Amino acid sequence: MKASQLRILFATSECAPLVKTGGLGDVSAALPAALKALGLDPRILLPGYRPVLAQLPKCREVARFAATADFPAARLLQGQTPSGVPLLALDCSELYDRAGGPYQNEAGRDWTDNALRFGLLSRVAALLGSADSPLGWQPDVVHCNDWQTGLAPAYLRYAAGARAATLQTIHNLAYQGIFEPQFVAALGLPPECFTPDGVEYYGKLSFLKSGLQFADAITTVSPTYALEIQSEPLGFGLQGLLAARRNCLSGILNGIDTGLWNPATDPLIAGRYDADTLGAKAINKSALQRRLDLAQAPEVPLFAVVSRFTQQKGLDWLLAIAPQLLALPAQLAILGSGEPQLERRFRALAQSHAEQVSTTIGFDETLAHLIEAGADAFLMPSRFEPCGMNQMYSQRYGTPPIARATGGLADTVLDCTAATLADGSASGFVFQEPSAEALLAAVKRAAGTWRDRATWRALQRNGMTRDFSWEPSARRYAAIYALLANKP
Ligand code: ADP
Ligand code: GLC
Repeated sequence: MKASQLRILFATSECAPLVKTGGLGDVSAALPAALKALGLDPRILLPGYRPVLAQLPKCREVARFAATADFPAARLLQGQTPSGVPLLALDCSELYDRAGGPYQNEAGRDWTDNALRFGLLSRVAALLGSADSPLGWQPDVVHCNDWQTGLAPAYLRYAAGARAATLQTIHNLAYQGIFEPQFVAALGLPPECFTPDGVEYYGKLSFLKSGLQFADAITTVSPTYALEIQSEPLGFGLQGLLAARRNCLSGILNGIDTGLWNPATDPLIAGRYDADTLGAKAINKSALQRRLDLAQAPEVPLFAVVSRFTQQKGLDWLLAIAPQLLALPAQLAILGSGEPQLERRFRALAQSHAEQVSTTIGFDETLAHLIEAGADAFLMPSRFEPCGMNQMYSQRYGTPPIARATGGLADTVLDCTAATLADGSASGFVFQEPSAEALLAAVKRAAGTWRDRATWRALQRNGMTRDFSWEPSARRYAAIYALLANKP
């Protein structure tokens, strides 16, 4: 079968703008749209969380599922994403109709029924890919994303009759979906799958291991991360399995939605600009300083962060070097939420340096765009980073990233050196060592280069003219789908 005719069920727990906590939401919106643009027939399967159904008023019911194992009855509603990709919302009010986030309640605790919530998502994904599919449409490939849909390949492996092929994508191996063994029966999995060659992980049930074990192929979101996860420490316990399956594991870099993230047309920023009108970027810096109550200081570099606050992101190193960074002098704009300790420390930093540091705790898409446009440089000191989206957004906005050489950051940011400046590839500042000192050295290099206007302009233009569009990566996914669909 030709790639262009393939039917793909894209099963995911997030899809922007309907529901997003991080990059998975961005990818789940943009990749299916890019596949559709190539002529494939993708459909997205997403839990019908309360805010999702509220944003999809024109859905129609296309299937009903009776209660089974510990799952309540559910139904499928068909609608469309804003970019026109068909979307199947899994409606089950007991599991998804509640205030709070997709994974956690309003107090930041994991929902206690996450095994059932994402077990049902996986099970329905598998059902749609099986001979028992209630839809007139049957996918050639069920594309699973992260642990939340990792059980689908296990359900399909044990399903009778013709079945879709499966692809498991790892967006972040640090989250594996590990639950007590009694869920094997509660989720209607056959007892024989609970072995070390199946879904068992040290006596527990692992959703992600199921996907890695049973999917026909595995991808992750950058070539460097694909290598890193085959050994410790970034294999997070699954390095052996990943190394054993390396022949069906590939790293495909995420793209970005170049329509949504375009400083020449972005309606969420204060002044629009492109690589030839970079002077207008200053309007955004001034607007950002005003919005965040920072001193209006065009002559001081403004560094920024937009991030989940977790150990992964290396923000503790930023806190450690804050005194030296602010003494450069420089300003700091922080937007994010997560670990309470990091929220507290960033709040305190802003309180003690009101004119120089601003901390916004929360999720704010509009502010994220204004920060990309208004900051001078963007900080991503991640301990690990499967791909990362913000370093690509910031390059496109002429806001060079300062990033650690790990995962997708290593694959997308080109360190500023005499050689990379000479060949026109320099696009940011990269540091190797996982430490506060190494971050500080990179920040100092960036601040020094920022004062050299001509060099900084060159750096900005290099980043802005790079191609981060989805098309090349969507073609690679299409090639994998074709390979899987054509396998006997
Ligand atoms: P991760 O998925 O690990 O969080 P990525 O860099 O892949 O990291 O993607 C993060 C995405 O979420 C980006 O689109 C980023 O702008 C967005 N984001 C993260 N935190 C916030 C926030 N507090 N407000 C708005 N957008 C955010
Ligand atoms: C995960 C990773 C991030 C990646 C995103 C989308 O959340 O942490 O690096 O960009 O998934 O693939």
